[in-house]
Amino acid sequence: MTVVALVPAAGQGTRLGLNRPKAFVTLQGRSLLERAVDGLFASGAVDEVVVMVPADLVDDARALVPRARVVVGGAERTDSVRAGLAAAGDADLVLVHDAARPLTPGPMIHRVVAALREGASAVIPVLPVADTIKRVDAGGAVAATVDRADLRAVQTPQGFTAQALRAAYDAAPNESATDDAGLVERAGGTVATVTGDPLAMKITTAFDLRIAEVLAQEHK
Ligand code: CTP
Ligand code: MG
Repeated sequence: MTVVALVPAAGQGTRLGLNRPKAFVTLQGRSLLERAVDGLFASGAVDEVVVMVPADLVDDARALVPRARVVVGGAERTDSVRAGLAAAGDADLVLVHDAARPLTPGPMIHRVVAALREGASAVIPVLPVADTIKRVDAGGAVAATVDRADLRAVQTPQGFTAQALRAAYDAAPNESATDDAGLVERAGGTVATVTGDPLAMKITTAFDLRIAEVLAQEHK
């Protein structure tokens, strides 16, 4: 079974606030894009990688990740994943993995692929939520305390049979979602979970990048 990883890397990185798209920002001298792609190949669980980047950075991306196929992404993350899916014709299993998670450990990638090989059609890595979570009303007053025991924080790579992911995207041609499993859920599919890893943290803000700098030094 051919495992193809799609790496959405076409975002602008607005919340990080540096002067270039986030995937091209460096962490201890290597771009987030290189780290994410190299981590996927190094896991040994992935046969091919397709990277989706802004149109003006296709050549830069090809130079950074020569083993990956590079295509142009879209305006929303879902558009970028669609572009990647179109370039992943030979895939049996598809992983979707944010370039913004550059320190994702290989064993976690293996767990996702193993769950697919054991028969899941969609699987996501998750972690328990440490903070108490409350729902608030429009004025900011607490409306409810959510039972934390039932909550999970969701990471990537998320894994799918190619059939399940294509069907979910086809069923929602105009919708966007913050994660791909959300589209599978909306299409009525069952999503399994495996244990995530704190090192698979997403770099969103300057604070996250500072934490990742420390972690990258420890996990060379
Ligand atoms: N992404 C993408 N295409 C888009 C938007 C996002 O491929 N149109 C990718 C990003 O490059 C990133 C991943 O999806 O690797 C997760 O998105 P996010 O963390 O939101 O990154 P950005 O959209 O770049 O950041 P921001 O929302 O702060 O602008
Ligand atoms: Mg974004």
